[in-house]
Amino acid sequence: MKTITYNTQNISFTDKLKVFFALSDPYLTQGPAIKKFEDELAKYLNVKHVIAVCNGTAALHIINLAVGYNEGDVGLTSPNTFVATSNGGIYSGGTPAFSDINNSDFNLDIQNIPKITNLKTISPVHFGGFPVDMKKLRELFPKTIIIEDAAHAIGSEYFDGKDWQKIGSCKYSDASILSFHPLKNLTTGEGGAITTNNDELAEKCRALRTHGIKGTQSKEQPWSYEMQTLGFNYRITDFQCVLGSSQLKRLDKFVARQREIASYYKKSFKNIAGIDYVHEKDWQKSSYHLFTLLVDWKSFGTSRAEFMLKLKEKNIMTQVHYIPVYKHPFYKQFNINEKDFPVSESYYERTISIPCSSKMKISDAKRVVREIENILKL
Ligand SMILES: Cc1ncc(COP(=O)(O)O)c(C=O)c1O
Repeated sequence: MKTITYNTQNISFTDKLKVFFALSDPYLTQGPAIKKFEDELAKYLNVKHVIAVCNGTAALHIINLAVGYNEGDVGLTSPNTFVATSNGGIYSGGTPAFSDINNSDFNLDIQNIPKITNLKTISPVHFGGFPVDMKKLRELFPKTIIIEDAAHAIGSEYFDGKDWQKIGSCKYSDASILSFHPLKNLTTGEGGAITTNNDELAEKCRALRTHGIKGTQSKEQPWSYEMQTLGFNYRITDFQCVLGSSQLKRLDKFVARQREIASYYKKSFKNIAGIDYVHEKDWQKSSYHLFTLLVDWKSFGTSRAEFMLKLKEKNIMTQVHYIPVYKHPFYKQFNINEKDFPVSESYYERTISIPCSSKMKISDAKRVVREIENILKL
């Protein structure tokens, strides 16, 4: 029986051929395919600058460094995310803080972010592909630096009252980050990017991506370069970007398929007591990177662990997104009180991500639903 995972890469024969030929190009890294991919992404997202890097975590690191934290400055994000989001601020000298999620799409509850002195950045996470209301967030925090974590949300859109905006356009933020990990909507193997309309941030990120070095060639010194700041080697390769360009052509199809699978699940689990899922609002268009079921395990006489293991026996792989970040041992030093996060706590008890990938057919989704119905005796 075929294994169905919660998400997986979707690589075509054309993708493979393009990478095959790219390996014969004169440049394997630091060549023209990187700029080409960045330009194509910038056009797709409708944003001025794209800086492609080796993964989404590196993107978070250097955008947080570029923004700059003074001692005591706070970087706030959602606890319902992968640790990399809040780690980005810590790497850069920031103090992490979290604010609870809302009870409807489990993104940051932007109306109830507490007043924090020295709040430097807010990093909203478009969880599972569901857009945060960026216009509202900007209105609420006109002076705070906003870095969107769009690792799940390339291909997602939101309506701002006038137009549909692509996540990553940075219309109401200072910058966004993307991840091109194989489980994300578009892959380059490992990979990521920073997107921004801010020239200064873009220049800083470009320098930080390659050791903080700038070319300073002149007629007298055609070899000249200067290291102006402490940067890294966070470069992505040309053949990865060739894969990215090829994938980008099919991104809308990937998202459309994930949305079809999600629609099937929504129909199947509608009006079942003890089961819920994230409801898309009319201003949101989610990429459905994840399909999150919320289950009252007790009412079905089972536990989440038992449910996961039973599905695994049927070659259906699920995952929990996420253990709230403040629960990790490393985060204990920041004295975060779990009682401040009642929604995150209750969400974490109930959540399970069931398979939703662009590789799936409706027949796969039917199999997933059938097995869930058997286990929960629906
Ligand atoms: C929400 C979120 N942010 C950041 C990252 C980090 O991306 P990467 O794995 O490309 O470093 C991930 C990856 O899983 C993620 O899910």
